[in-house]
Amino acid sequence: MTMINVDNVSKNYGALRAVDGLTISIESGAAFGLLGPNGAGKSTTISMLSGLFPPDTGNINIGGYDLWQEPMAARRLMGIVPQDVALYPALSALENVAFFGRLHGLAGAPLRKRCQEVLELVGLWDRAREPVKTYSGGMKRRINIAAGLVHSPKLLLLDEPTVGVDPQSRRAILDVIKELNGQGMTVLYTSHYMEEVSELCRYIAVMDKGRIIAQGTQDELHMLLGGADFIRVETSEPLTDVSFLEKIPNVRQVAAKGSELTLTVPNGGKALANIVSALAAQNIEISGVKVEQANLEAVFLHLTGRTLRD
Ligand SMILES: Nc1ncnc2c1ncn2[C@@H]1O[C@H](COP(=O)(O)OP(=O)(O)OP(=O)(O)O)[C@@H](O)[C@H]1O
Ligand SMILES: [Mg+2]
Repeated sequence: MTMINVDNVSKNYGALRAVDGLTISIESGAAFGLLGPNGAGKSTTISMLSGLFPPDTGNINIGGYDLWQEPMAARRLMGIVPQDVALYPALSALENVAFFGRLHGLAGAPLRKRCQEVLELVGLWDRAREPVKTYSGGMKRRINIAAGLVHSPKLLLLDEPTVGVDPQSRRAILDVIKELNGQGMTVLYTSHYMEEVSELCRYIAVMDKGRIIAQGTQDELHMLLGGADFIRVETSEPLTDVSFLEKIPNVRQVAAKGSELTLTVPNGGKALANIVSALAAQNIEISGVKVEQANLEAVFLHLTGRTLRD
């Protein structure tokens, strides 16, 4: 069964086309990653899927319900974890989660039981009676996730839930999402961290400037590169002209950012010697070199000529 079907959806903000002909289909029980840099259109997509505003054109279907024809039925299926934490700072974590539970029609003993379950799930039940304003950023994000889960949704939409959190909370968040997906929950996870998307999601769409520029399983995306590696070279001075590197046989692409060069090379090990000698011939001092296997970032670079962190 298909849980999310987005068909040719576009959204403009004035003259800016934030989402441009987006088509995605997510199977029930899947973990789907939407990977893209700042401004790609991820939050705009999540907002439309949440029913916050309609697309200018195109259709969205959630669990068999058209989001605009049957919004209540569609929204009952969804738990939403927005990019910006949406909690009442003066209230305790428990009161916040209970508030969201009541919005979804829960009350009494079932509400209490469910609040405890989701707060235990995010590892904060023991601190649940403290006001949210005394929590760290990472803890607030975990409460935000608990609030999104309180009505036992079948589908969880998460918009960059680990940005700016401490490593411990980040680990906790990723583990919770894995566990929920393992239990059959459908997950749509947006991020600009390819490691996270890579860890959590079997199926990935790479988004840039409002469009999906590639989608598939990780293996399928890697195949776009034809088995390329990544060579990262740290130079002691920033380079202005990298055209001499592009002329080296086998070097497919060169991206320079300050004093960090990223070269896409099929079989990186073999080209390394040529790259090092080309730099030496230009009297450029190398302060570090690393060969990495192709990853999602290499896919993005290959498709856009930019790195995800630009
Ligand atoms: N309310 C708005 N009014 C005008 N422009 C907007 C609005 N919201 C977003 N945009 C623009 O639309 C584009 C897509 O933004 P969006 O927030 O969807 O991207 P994103 O992928 O979530 O980025 P980030 O990783 O920074 O959260 C950007 O160019 C952004 O500046
Ligand atoms: Mg965003």
